[in-house]
Amino acid sequence: MSGVIQRLERAWARRRVPAGAGPDPDDARRDVVLITGASEGIGLSLAHEFAAAGHDLALVARSEDKLAENAEALRAAHGIRVDCFAIDLAIHGHCDRLAEDLEARGLRVDVLVNNAGIGLSGEFVEHATADVLRLVDLNMRVLTDLMHRYLPEMLERGGGGVLNVASLGGALPGPYQAAYYASKAYVISLTEAVAHEIGGRGTRLSVVVPGPVATRFHKSMGAESALYTKVIGCMDPDVVARAAYQGFRCRKVIITPGILTTFNYFAVRILPHTLTTPLMGVLLKKRRFLQP
Ligand SMILES: NC(=O)c1ccc[n+]([C@@H]2O[C@H](COP(=O)([O-])OP(=O)(O)OC[C@H]3O[C@@H](n4cnc5c(N)ncnc54)[C@H](OP(=O)(O)O)[C@@H]3O)[C@@H](O)[C@H]2O)c1
Repeated sequence: MSGVIQRLERAWARRRVPAGAGPDPDDARRDVVLITGASEGIGLSLAHEFAAAGHDLALVARSEDKLAENAEALRAAHGIRVDCFAIDLAIHGHCDRLAEDLEARGLRVDVLVNNAGIGLSGEFVEHATADVLRLVDLNMRVLTDLMHRYLPEMLERGGGGVLNVASLGGALPGPYQAAYYASKAYVISLTEAVAHEIGGRGTRLSVVVPGPVATRFHKSMGAESALYTKVIGCMDPDVVARAAYQGFRCRKVIITPGILTTFNYFAVRILPHTLTTPLMGVLLKKRRFLQP
């Protein structure tokens, strides 16, 4: 019975794939799952999820040492091949550099995981313009560039997919993390809209929207003294990655890891911003008395 359901599901997911579409037999490139921001945190956990399912990986981040260390551990644990690319993606032109390096190593992006992202904590007007633009570049421009670069080829062969990492914060405005929340709203909106456009063409497109996760992310953006880091529990990045991977496999467009995140996601979408914006302001504002 479940076999019949699976076949029907596959037929539905590929209903608009033209007859004869599929992998090019003359293409000698090796398929990889390209994961950005894979040196630590959620990206590293996602790397383990895809590796456990037998996928070869291409990992991207700035820290060469951490990437090499992770690659060694992934090879040893899962017996897969791992290529590393130490690149600062936020710099203009570096997506081209990444694409050239992948091509030079004979790798084809079968699945793209757009995970690399940064936050900024504090008043919008107090941030240096360069920092805000760096966030916009990494969280939106790079994600869009890579998705726009690799999606057409996936659609041509009626397979592969893109998994974007957004945030619960993308569902509402976030005073004191304004640019970050807005960037994640863009990621959710882009994914939902494009997923509608490409439905039935065999290629997966999902976005995962976790609430707070226990990674270095909060410290890196200087949000340690914000109330939310003390009053809201953080999820384990491995749990988030497992839910993201399973949701992606099941072709869910919006993946909300865990029951609480699912409830919160729908609640914040229903509640008016006149209510949620001041509440988020209270949770996200940095407090002197909470400074470490
Ligand atoms: N932690 C949370 O509470 C949370 C919640 C919801 C959504 N998210 C989202 O999940 C994603 C991953 O977050 P995380 O918590 O795992 O953060 P993290 O632990 O700080 O990891 C961020 C990753 O991105 C890489 N990165 C940062 N800047 C980069 C750049 N310019 N070029 C290439 N790679 C870069 C980092 O590596 P290098 O420093 O070596 O470059 C690292 O591998 C982000 O998109 C974040 O917005 C996080």
